[in-house]
Amino acid sequence: MTQTLTPPGPAAAPAATPDPETLLAKYGGPVPRYTSYPTAPHFHAGVMGETYAGWLEALPADRPVSVYAHIPFCDTLCWFCGCQTKITRRYKPVSEYLDVLEKELALIQAAHGGRALPVSHIHWGGGSPTMLTPDDIRRLAASVDAHFARTEDCVFAVEIDPREMTDADVQALADARVTRASLGLQDVHPEVQAAINRIQPMDETERLAARLRAIGVRQLNLDLMYGLPHQTVERVLASVEAALALAPDRIALFGYAHVPWMKTHQKMIPEAALPDSEERYRQAEAASAALDAAGYVRVGLDHFAKPDDPMAIALKAGTLKRNFQGYTTDDAMSLIGVGASSIGRLPQGFVQNEAATAKYARMVEAGRLPVARGKAFEGDDLLMGAAIERLMCDFAVDLDALSAEHGVGRSAFDEARSRLAPLVADGLATFEGGARLRATEAGRPYIRQLAACFDHYFRDPRRAGAARHSAAV
Ligand SMILES: C[S@@+](CC[C@H](N)C(=O)[O-])C[C@H]1O[C@@H](n2cnc3c(N)ncnc32)[C@H](O)[C@@H]1O
Ligand code: SF4
Repeated sequence: MTQTLTPPGPAAAPAATPDPETLLAKYGGPVPRYTSYPTAPHFHAGVMGETYAGWLEALPADRPVSVYAHIPFCDTLCWFCGCQTKITRRYKPVSEYLDVLEKELALIQAAHGGRALPVSHIHWGGGSPTMLTPDDIRRLAASVDAHFARTEDCVFAVEIDPREMTDADVQALADARVTRASLGLQDVHPEVQAAINRIQPMDETERLAARLRAIGVRQLNLDLMYGLPHQTVERVLASVEAALALAPDRIALFGYAHVPWMKTHQKMIPEAALPDSEERYRQAEAASAALDAAGYVRVGLDHFAKPDDPMAIALKAGTLKRNFQGYTTDDAMSLIGVGASSIGRLPQGFVQNEAATAKYARMVEAGRLPVARGKAFEGDDLLMGAAIERLMCDFAVDLDALSAEHGVGRSAFDEARSRLAPLVADGLATFEGGARLRATEAGRPYIRQLAACFDHYFRDPRRAGAARHSAAV
């Protein structure tokens, strides 16, 4: 998904030391999710299609890229939803959008001199990519294949809303050679499902998981949530149990980000039924403990993976990555985003497509790359971005190793070190051997605050923009 908001992580441990209330008051303020650095609110209109075309042209022809396609449609609205999507009961806007996506893929290939770049990761997110008819699933996959050359071990992941998936839909995913399916489960309790406007019988999800596996889509992810209205520890645990019964390879456990000022439909969520921050913490902890006991490896802030899953292996190897889809094993140098609101990352910087589908379509129809804004890397962006990524993935970062890797002196981190000092003094992190910063147990929920110490834009009021983030915990 392209999620523009910042789901709060688990709340601070009520029993954390020193004094959790003080910690929360001091460090619980708004902070980005760091799915990129610089973060999206600092993208600007100085980077447009012409710049992007130059960046695409310069891509090395032999280095595999990653392709993200955004499908911003769903047939019903879940009231908790923070994704970039819109509701349609008619199919015409979806099929017209697909026509535009195909043209955008052609524009990208043309900008790269007409050569088909190798692709090692394909991700379809949304919204709900499974809004596409079976024929259109095959058509979009064929179109990606017409413009990019899949590597032999290409990972192809698709986000799926399990409700109303037919056998023909599943067959189409298999025909498209999808390798990983990500199924939204959220919570299995009927009262919670009613409060979020998402009725999803568990037997339907079970049948879908079995069908996907039988037909060759073998890697399964499930999305669970805590902090939803009417959720309790018992209900979250029941959902974890239901998820575990499907033996998924990965489970994402997202804390519900309630941001009704950005997503006005969230006003339908009964706020009085939302768990408070202590209850959220208990739910997150209970779910994590249950997943732990079931043998899953905790990955980053919100993911769990079987020990033999590539994500757990990447964590162990220190090669886990973080991008706009969250934690990933995708190590491609460049990410090419297609579709309204999609974000791409090239060696020179970030680009984001126009989010309004009508305007996006008009730009593509006019033969223009539909970029609305972006950010070219400058100064120490790459160095700070690397430190933030390691911290978000590993909860630790070796500053000396990083500065050596980037060919700069240790003093490059002086400013970050001085910002970190009060957090270290409060026991949220330690410096091992003087240079290896590691979050402590008490500091893990505040990992985004630790990361923010490396973020020059976050602190600089001249560059702060109008960003409004959700609370750190
Ligand atoms: C694009 S959706 C997944 C695919 C499909 N549309 C579905 O809902 O089943 C990605 C995931 O984002 C998570 N999500 C959506 N809104 C959220 C919010 N406000 N806070 C936290 N997580 C959210 C949900 O777990 C959801 O499954
Ligand atoms: S199906 Fe997924 S993307 Fe669509 S509204 Fe629900 S959570 Fe959001």
